[in-house]
Amino acid sequence: MIDYSSFLRICQQAAEDDEVFKNFKRHPNFTPILEHVSYQQGLDYLQEIKLNFPFLLKYMNKFAKNDAVGNPNVFYFEELKMDMSPTTLRYIKVLADLLNLFGSLDDMDIIEIGVGYGGQCRIINDIYRPRSYTLVDFKEVLLLSEKYLKEKNIIIRFPEDTTEVHYDLCISNYAFSEMGHDYQIFYADKIIRNSDRGYITCNFIVPENYTKEEIIALKQNYTIYEERPLTYEGNFIYTWK
Ligand SMILES: C[S@@+](CC[C@H](N)C(=O)[O-])C[C@H]1O[C@@H](n2cnc3c(N)ncnc32)[C@H](O)[C@@H]1O
Repeated sequence: MIDYSSFLRICQQAAEDDEVFKNFKRHPNFTPILEHVSYQQGLDYLQEIKLNFPFLLKYMNKFAKNDAVGNPNVFYFEELKMDMSPTTLRYIKVLADLLNLFGSLDDMDIIEIGVGYGGQCRIINDIYRPRSYTLVDFKEVLLLSEKYLKEKNIIIRFPEDTTEVHYDLCISNYAFSEMGHDYQIFYADKIIRNSDRGYITCNFIVPENYTKEEIIALKQNYTIYEERPLTYEGNFIYTWK
């Protein structure tokens, strides 16, 4: 199992202390978990966006505002003529995938499992209006994402919440596949089973977790895609609709 303890501490500190919040995206206890996407990967994400959903390019100035908070490492992208965090480009690339797969995200009830500071949620809400957007993560992470996000449609759901709600779309990137196995079983039953559509970027860095075959068996109407760019051997994107 991954040890999230230092990450959870910095999330709580950033949520409670404005000075820590100003720079949290480059804190050494934060970057091993998030904000470690390389410049080269950023370039690759940009190519994917251009290829799959070039319509999003006209919103780059708006998306780049995500980098005005938390002082992330940014790089100059010649093609965009602006600085950007490669992690923000990854969130935009995921949005491009979601639009290709599911069409407009307006009026959907979306749930995201394992949200980090809420970057994916923010990028989606920059240009779409989901009916609701539920964030599931540990308390410390939810405190940070609540402070980070200004969206009005956010619902916080703690990991131990057993209520069964229907969702139009479930998202989980580098999270469902790497969390404790007991949580995987629990979310598969309480959330994934109740979601009409899904998009899960899967990595396999925790040996005792669901295998590729076990993830594939979660839904009948699934499709898998290669992760592009491939950030770790064996990764893939599991979707259903
Ligand atoms: C590698 S980060 C990915 C964050 C985000 N999805 C992204 O792509 O930027 C993994 C996230 O999963 C969360 N997480 C780990 N175990 C969890 C659990 N049992 N329930 C909910 N979230 C969990 C972590 O706190 C962290 O926010």
